[in-house]
Amino acid sequence: MAVIADHCPQIQVTVVDLNEERISAWNNEDLTKLPVYEPGLDAVVARARNRNLRFSTDVNDAISSADMIFISVNTPTKTKGLGSGQASDLRWVEACARQVAKYAKGHTIVVEKSTLPVRTAETVQAILQAAEQPPLDGIVPRSFVVLSNPEFLAEGTAIQDLEAPDRVLIGGEDTNAIESLAKIYGVWVPPEKILRTNLWSSELSKLIANAFLAQRISSINSVAALCEVTGADVREVSKAIGADSRIGTKFLNSGPGFGGSCFKKDILNLVYLSRHFGLPEVADYWQHVVTVNTWQQNRIARLVVKNLFGNITGKKIALFGFAFKANTNDTREAPAIRIANDLLEEGAQLAIYDPKVDPKQISIDLQLPASSNPEKTSIPTNTSLTGEGTWWPANSINEATKGSDAILILTEWEHFEDLNWKEIAPHMRQPAWVFDSRGVVNPSEVRSAGLRLWRVGDGAT
Ligand code: UDX
Repeated sequence: MAVIADHCPQIQVTVVDLNEERISAWNNEDLTKLPVYEPGLDAVVARARNRNLRFSTDVNDAISSADMIFISVNTPTKTKGLGSGQASDLRWVEACARQVAKYAKGHTIVVEKSTLPVRTAETVQAILQAAEQPPLDGIVPRSFVVLSNPEFLAEGTAIQDLEAPDRVLIGGEDTNAIESLAKIYGVWVPPEKILRTNLWSSELSKLIANAFLAQRISSINSVAALCEVTGADVREVSKAIGADSRIGTKFLNSGPGFGGSCFKKDILNLVYLSRHFGLPEVADYWQHVVTVNTWQQNRIARLVVKNLFGNITGKKIALFGFAFKANTNDTREAPAIRIANDLLEEGAQLAIYDPKVDPKQISIDLQLPASSNPEKTSIPTNTSLTGEGTWWPANSINEATKGSDAILILTEWEHFEDLNWKEIAPHMRQPAWVFDSRGVVNPSEVRSAGLRLWRVGDGAT
């Protein structure tokens, strides 16, 4: 919405949320305090805020005065009831539709921005239609059109993705409404990139785009394991296959598995829908993309244990990176969560270093408070051999690595690529290991510092 406001100063954009704390953070004078860390977002907000971009908790008022409303609420996986663990929880979408139905005035275009299961627009439409009022004397007329306009931006590159999208997708049946929305994007997006489809194709395309991207990651991660036992190198294989223009070079980086708020949720949703529509083979096919992802995370934790002589109780392991990918402070579904939990289960003492993630968030994700008295400098003593896994947030690379038996790289933060291994190695307990699940380090530098190295998909080590 900030990018729309930035490009279209003639359009008044109001972002509303019931959460007062969040809205006041969006209104904070200090742009470093915005609730989302996203490169370039602060500059966009600075330009448009208080001009034609407002953040408010007055939801009903904003609904009444809007010509177009974007429903952008979360649609997490259901945790109980029918479809639990797979289907999307649509309670917030439905609540929004009902609130719009109650407070809208005149003709309103309602745009589904949230990622939704196919045919959700039917529900939204039914709720809105029940509230339509013909233009009769004495009553305020009310009519609605529903469009689907899924968002394809990725975190960390959100502004870039919005400024120059591969495509904008608008699904709907009402040509006037579609063209009104297309006109907004048309201010900065080339016309050939604005695709128009029916409602159901648009809703489904969003799920399928994410499923295809995630499938590439599970595919390359399965190949990484094969490389490790055959002497091949997954980076060379990625390059070789990616050179085929039919395959393409992107999304072929092997790693600790995909994380983030979308991939797993959307695939599980697809699995649920496929089963619901009587297509169990289709459901099983997509389910396996998630299964391989979990396997990859467990596999990495297992091989850390195996290489540290089958025992990590009381051993210090430095975890480099906790966010689900670089350039974000988001930890939703981060591979680090499962891997850290597996290591804690084995009694490890984890020093977790991430330049952007708040330690409070790590406690929540691991469901374990940080240790109040961690051994920050010395070699582990017998006091840490109780079997209890603990963790603490390290403020720097040096702090994290002192006295550690291993370093495990889980997020590809840029500065992990050129660490000074000769400086780090002497402070570790020998024989010390580097486990590089992102393939970002320079192998010869690590080895020449006297450290043992495991790299994802590297059969030569
Ligand atoms: C994704 C989609 O890319 C985006 O189009 C959609 O709108 C939302 O979901 P996002 O979750 O922000 O975006 O991140 P993305 O860059 O796609 O990465 C997802 C995960 O896959 C991360 O954990 C990342 O580290 C991992 N990944 C990505 C790999 O392991 N290898 C790759 O080659 C690419």
